[in-house]
Amino acid sequence: MHAFVAGHPIKHSKSPLIHGTWLKRHGLEGTYRAVDVAPEDFEAFMASLKAPASEFVGGNITIPHKERAFALADEVDETADYIGAANTLWREDGRLKATNTDAYGFAANLDEKSPGWETLETAVVYGAGGASRAVIVALVQRGFRTVHVLNRTTEKAKALADRFGATVQAHGLQTLDEVLQGAGLFVNTTSLGLEDDAVPQIDFTGMRQGALVTDIVYVPLKTAFLEQAEAQGIATADGLGMLLHQAVPGFEKWFGVRPVVDRELRDIVEAAMGVR
Ligand code: ATR
Repeated sequence: MHAFVAGHPIKHSKSPLIHGTWLKRHGLEGTYRAVDVAPEDFEAFMASLKAPASEFVGGNITIPHKERAFALADEVDETADYIGAANTLWREDGRLKATNTDAYGFAANLDEKSPGWETLETAVVYGAGGASRAVIVALVQRGFRTVHVLNRTTEKAKALADRFGATVQAHGLQTLDEVLQGAGLFVNTTSLGLEDDAVPQIDFTGMRQGALVTDIVYVPLKTAFLEQAEAQGIATADGLGMLLHQAVPGFEKWFGVRPVVDRELRDIVEAAMGVR
């Protein structure tokens, strides 16, 4: 059995290491490898996956192909449909099916790090890009009453709010202090801090008792958002677990074994990232 991760560029992907670790752990014969697919070749790549002679049982799709994988799959599930992007493909009954496991990965990471997080009721989501959509789906599915989405480009936050209904409210970044008052969960979904962009000073101390701050960025593991929250005495959860947990459903579909995310896997991936 062979599976893949397709993206462009792809050489920094940690997915081969994650799935390779599980294949070894379970003594499976399968393989999982990275495939660099340029945007102009992606449609042909999807067509080759649909061919009965394809060597692949399925695979992961990463940046920049998630939206087109969603559009070109034979069938998408409800979660992929909500998110408008697919990151996991598999063949079933001669059809190429697609889902998106990012929302699952986000929720499973917090289930592991901060059990009970879904009772925090009000969330503040910083950013309104592709990753933000998966986070919002997870929050809505887990019963958050109010999800404030803040974005530099307010229009993009508005478009998301329109898509998800009354639970999701759109704002510009200047509303941050206001919506943080009494909020239970803060999630950074922006790339801020990855480049040289300055990360804003944020006062998290007005959040409710038991509040949690998390970041879906995991390089570095302790991002500037998490560092600030920690310094203010607020609980934090890093984003690496989202990457690890989002891989679970795909592996189970392709190889028939549900793998677990544990300390050993995290250590292996952290070592490869050079953060240990
Ligand atoms: P992804 O798919 O990883 O979420 P994306 O779709 O490019 O990536 O979204 C990046 C997010 O980071 C957006 O919310 C973006 O804000 P805009 O929609 O206004 O562009 C946000 N972002 C990136 N750089 C930023 C900056 N310097 N200040 C504030 N927000 C920033």
